[in-house]
Parts: sequence; structure tokens; C-alpha cells
Amino acid sequence: MSGEHESILILDFGSQYTQLIARRVRELNVFSEILPCDAALERVRRPGLKGIVLSGGPQSVYDENAPSMDPEIYNLGVPVLGICYGLQLMMRDLGGEIVAADSAEYGPASVEIEDPHSPMFIGLDARQFVWASHGDHISKPAPGFVRTASSRNAPFSALEDRANQRFGLQFHPEVHHTRQGREMLRNFVHGICGCSGDWSMRAFIDEAIEQVREQVGDGKVVCGLSGGVDSSVMALLLHRALGDRLTCIFVDNGLLRKGEAEQVLGDFRERYHLEVRHAAAGERFLDKLAGVTEPERKRKIIGATFIEVFDEEAEAVGGVDFLAQGTIYPDRIESAAIKGPATTIKTHHNVGGLPDHMKLDLVEPLKDLFKDEVRKLGHELGLDPAFVGRHPFPGPGLAVRILGEITSERVRIAQDCDAIFIEELREAGLYDSTSQAFVVLLPVRTVGVMGDFRTYGNVVAIRAVETQDFMTADWARLPVDFLSRVSSRIVNEVREVNRVVYDITSKPPGTIEWE
Ligand code: XMP
Repeated sequence: MSGEHESILILDFGSQYTQLIARRVRELNVFSEILPCDAALERVRRPGLKGIVLSGGPQSVYDENAPSMDPEIYNLGVPVLGICYGLQLMMRDLGGEIVAADSAEYGPASVEIEDPHSPMFIGLDARQFVWASHGDHISKPAPGFVRTASSRNAPFSALEDRANQRFGLQFHPEVHHTRQGREMLRNFVHGICGCSGDWSMRAFIDEAIEQVREQVGDGKVVCGLSGGVDSSVMALLLHRALGDRLTCIFVDNGLLRKGEAEQVLGDFRERYHLEVRHAAAGERFLDKLAGVTEPERKRKIIGATFIEVFDEEAEAVGGVDFLAQGTIYPDRIESAAIKGPATTIKTHHNVGGLPDHMKLDLVEPLKDLFKDEVRKLGHELGLDPAFVGRHPFPGPGLAVRILGEITSERVRIAQDCDAIFIEELREAGLYDSTSQAFVVLLPVRTVGVMGDFRTYGNVVAIRAVETQDFMTADWARLPVDFLSRVSSRIVNEVREVNRVVYDITSKPPGTIEWE
């Protein structure tokens, strides 16, 4: 994607907000990419490059292993914006001075714009409420730079060398607490860098289709279809590009939500006319899981069995040249590790190693997109909103929601309870306001009464969370009447269950799943 596009490049110095910068730029309809700060000059210089942003970072520029970049990057002839650490580095590299401040500035801060004509601040309020996080501050700007904003704790909140198109902010415009941060980034991207903002999902589709056709030629492609957002969107996109030269493989591990296999197969075959092979492997998975209670062992067994089954199916398709994977951008961003610019590449936890004989060439049409962009793409491709807005579902499925041993009976109990909970959530209009919701079947039994009988039945826990990024989450404050209705329905309709509890643990310290 990086080829001819107008693009803004973000060099990562290790800030937790680097990805946010990239997303904000894309929201301005300009393609953006993140590279580690020590990327070679040849990777940075590219056709269509319109500007460079230097991210923040946790270190001090005078630390022994402080991350730095090739100074030639300042001279590429495109505007450069340094944010926090990025600004301090720019000052250090270009001849300014930085000192450890007596008082650090963390969190909300108020900043006075001193030059309303600065191209960074055109059209913005004179007083800005921003998000800061820095211990050091600039004591002497580099030659050619003038101050354009200040705050009580940072005499140089913003600096610029307009003649050389170099700008710096000592706070984070990408964070939403910086109230006019988006406008500042717009001023940089559209105003200073002169981007036209013509990058859109529609343009992406055309280009992605062209690229896939070029890569695949008249070859044959297989892809795993799980019914999750990424694989569904990928399958539709590839189908547009390749028609019946795409075969989807749906590995049904028997640990899916109730009715899910039928729904995914029905939709993709009948509605979207894709060729989907149904590998009904539930029994095989259950056999391998018999007697296993340890969560990581469950995950390993399921991962390995998935690959076996997928491999057999691909073999049965025959003459396959390419394997398509729903890798998305956050899975493969190379980021500057905190210890120094050693490059680490994240791998997706569900994309395990395939056996050697399956070393097919990879097609990864979503590899440049963030999750919310994948959803937008799904929408453009006509994927049912019910699919696009679905809660995420873990690869190992109900196996990690059935604590203790997994048997076909316990799978059915978990599915039945979960189906009731989700149906009620939808009916009450609460599904979209929760990020993930499910039922956990516990490995304990408790005493109850039903009619005149004492019962000794299963306990299930209901879990519902709200979260932006699944890294932290809060438990959903579901109305008590709603919880009460779910509880009675479960206990009345699922004979084996006689007790329902609600999980009120946030993450951290809890996790979203129970194992
Ligand atoms: P935790 O439980 O770590 O979950 O707070 C965060 C998100 O990751 C999902 N999750 C998994 N997804 N394979 C997956 O594909 C797994 O083994 C797995 N474990 C947790 C979880 O559902 C939540 O969305």
C-alpha cells in the first residue's frame, strides 16, 4: 500500500500512543504507516511521502540507550512534527538543550498559544487544554526555532522552524484529552504537509483487489473462515478479486456458539455465494480434549488440531497455491522496544506455525488496516451489520469458557446458557453497548431447590465487559431487572443449571475470559 499513496510516516520511539497517531492521520483520509525509529533511510524515503511524525517515548534523550534516528531524515524535504520525546530529540539533534525539569508535567495541562499565525494552530483557541507526559523539558531551542506556545511547567510547549518545515509539540495531540488535538493534526497533515485526503475505504477496495489479482495470477487460494470480523471481511474481499478461485475452509471445532456453524455456512454460501468447505470436526476435537482441564493445554491441543484439520481440507481442495490470512496492521507493527530500538514483530496468537509442507505463499489483504477500518471495509463490501458488529470470540472457543473437563454435554449446557444471555442482551438493546458478553460454565456444583426437590446442579457465571481495546476493561453495569430475567430464564430452561452469578471484576486485575 505504501507505493504511490500520499502518506505520512510515523517513527516510533516507544510511546504507548504511537498507534493512535497513525489512526488519527487515517481518520483524516491520509494513509499512514509506523516504522521503528531506527529504520534505514531507504525505508523512510518513498514516493508519495508527505510528512513525518516523530512519536513520543518513555525515555530521556540523554539516556545511554536513548532511541534515535538517522539525522538525514530531517533533510528529506518533507515537514517533520516531533511529539514529546520526538520534539526533544529534534532539539538535541539540531543543537538545542534539554534538562530534567523540577516539576514534571503529567496529565491535563493548559497551554497558551503565543503565535496564532503558526500553521500548527491556525483557527484554534488561544488557550488549549492538552494531555502532557514528560519529565524533561527544553531549556534552549535549537537555532532557527521559535516558541509558539507555553505552559506553566513547560516554557516551550510548542516550537517551530517554519522556514525548514520543522514543528514540535511538548504534549500529545493524538490523545482525546487534548481537546483540539485533531485540529492540530489536521493543520499538520492537510495544511503543512499539503495532503489532499483522498485515501478512503472505497479506494482501498479497488487497490486491494488489483493487488490480490496481481499477486495470485491464475492461482488458487484457500482461507480459513471463522465467522469473525477479520476472516469474514477478508473472504468477501478475496471473493470479489478471485471469484471461484477462492475456497474458504470453515473448521467447526464443536466449540462454537449455539447455531453458529449453521449461520456462518448459510450466510456465506447462500447469501454471498462463496465456496465454503465445512470441516465438521467437533468429535475429533472433543476426543483430543478428553480429560484435559488445564487451560494452556486446551489451547495447545485446539491449535494443533486446527492445523491438522485445515491441512487435510486444503489438501482435499487440491492444487492450492496461496494461503490467505486475516492478519491486520496491529498484528505486525514493528515497534521500538523500551530497552532500545531492537525490533520486535508481534505475531498473532492464533496464527501458529503451519507444517513445512504447507508453506504456501501468503496473501494478506488486510495487513495495512486497523480493526475499525476492517469493520468499515466490511460495511463497504456489504457484510451484514450483524457480522460487522459481533463481539469477538476466542479462537479456542467455548473450551476456555468451560472450566474443568470438556464433554459434549457440558458444551451443550454452555451453549444453551450463552444463547439465552445473548438473546436477552439483543432484545434489551444492550448488545451493542457491551464489548463482549458470554457465559462461563464452572466446575462446581451447588445445592438448590426446585419445586419440592433439592437439586445439585451446575453454576454458571455471566460476564459482560465494556472496553475500547480489550487491554483493560470494566464490567458492564447491566440493569438488575435484566440480570434477574437472564438468571430465571437460564435456571428454568437449562435443566442442569441451578445457580447464576454475575462477574463484577474489572481488567486488571481480572482478565476478560476466565481461563
Ligand atoms: P483476556 O481474557 O486476556 O482477553 O482479558 C482479551 C481478549 O482476547 C480474547 N482471548 C483470546 N482470543 N485466542 C483468541 O483468539 C485465545 O486463546 C484467547 N484468549 C483470550 C478474549 O476473548 C478477549 O476478547
